[in-house]
Amino acid sequence: MNSVANLALAAETQFGNIAFIDLQAQQRRIRPAVERRLQAVLDHGRYIAGPEITELEEKLAERTGAKAAIACASGTAALIIPLLAQGVGAGDAVFVPAFTYNATANAVLLTGATPVFVDIDPATFNMDPEHLERCLADVRSAGKLNPRAVIPVDLFGSPADYRAFTKIASQENLFLFSDGAQSFGGQLGNRWVGDLAPATATSFFPGKALGAYGDAGAIFTRDAADAEQWASIRWHGTDAQRKDSVRVGFNGRMDSFQAAVLLEKMAIFDDELETRHNIAAIYNERLGRVGRPQKHLNGASSSYGYYALCVENRDEVVAAVNSMGVPTAIYYTTPLHKMPAFSDFAPDGGLQQTERAASEIFSLPMHPYLTPKQVDFICDAVESAVS
Ligand SMILES: Cc1ncc(COP(=O)(O)O)c(C=O)c1O
Repeated sequence: MNSVANLALAAETQFGNIAFIDLQAQQRRIRPAVERRLQAVLDHGRYIAGPEITELEEKLAERTGAKAAIACASGTAALIIPLLAQGVGAGDAVFVPAFTYNATANAVLLTGATPVFVDIDPATFNMDPEHLERCLADVRSAGKLNPRAVIPVDLFGSPADYRAFTKIASQENLFLFSDGAQSFGGQLGNRWVGDLAPATATSFFPGKALGAYGDAGAIFTRDAADAEQWASIRWHGTDAQRKDSVRVGFNGRMDSFQAAVLLEKMAIFDDELETRHNIAAIYNERLGRVGRPQKHLNGASSSYGYYALCVENRDEVVAAVNSMGVPTAIYYTTPLHKMPAFSDFAPDGGLQQTERAASEIFSLPMHPYLTPKQVDFICDAVESAVS
């Protein structure tokens, strides 16, 4: 997901350059405002902990309905901090999907805990609550690890089944922690990502629906005490005066320049989100006839960070649409349990739905600067490649 090369993937068609993600078009729209914001940081000189950080944290909390937001150095820092705060570590089992970016499992392993890979629902591509219950029962009956946390991932922007996960987490006494790295702007019922679980991590990697001009992320909470503790861990574990070390921490904070950029991107985010939804509606209608687009739960709304489609002959379809000038990306060709860093944790018998999705899925251009003609052209290209 983090290949910057993908951001530049673009091809010339009779409808102009079709970019997989078009950050340049967005920059043209907001450049004067961003320059003013960056200039302000240069003027006040508070490159760390500038007023932009507080302003951003307040706006992020307001936008999501969370009690507080903590600005972090990256989505990865945002994943690690709440796990450290919960004391997750050696001997603990943390349930994660294998159909995600490696950062989800890395965060677990960096705390010393053990990732337990859970299969996905074949329609939503997100963690399957029923399979989670089976994995939990297996871990409990093996008696080697202590089930501590579950981290559903909102893949491509589509909120996972928090109604089911909230129930399971409370019955089983698990810390429910949402990896919303891809889903800022997603919604389930009347709640936004950031307020769907007691803790949520998001990423502002440049290619995300809300992206900085460098690395950045945030954590959201419903609890003021969590916010205080996370802010301390993010700042080397210091007290509120940033003097004494009161716990173990690290440098997990965002810098003022990234917050400045994000503030200007937030100003156009809702307008961009609406366009993403309009494009997705056209894709869903046309491509739903030739493939299986990602399905969203009842009452869920994706942030459409990415648009994913499954087809049986994926590799041929991808080659054909690429040759017509439509850039694509594959998230993910290799599920985590099949990667060398995580294969020690591969479940016996593998993960059937995860492995199937990995062989059939691909992503199409999705950004708010696609023109209606380009969207039509992309649909034509996929239709002709599939049939
Ligand atoms: C699902 C998921 N989790 C975590 C991350 C890590 O975010 P970052 O790259 O900002 O550290 C990403 C980034 O792509 C992601 O897609």
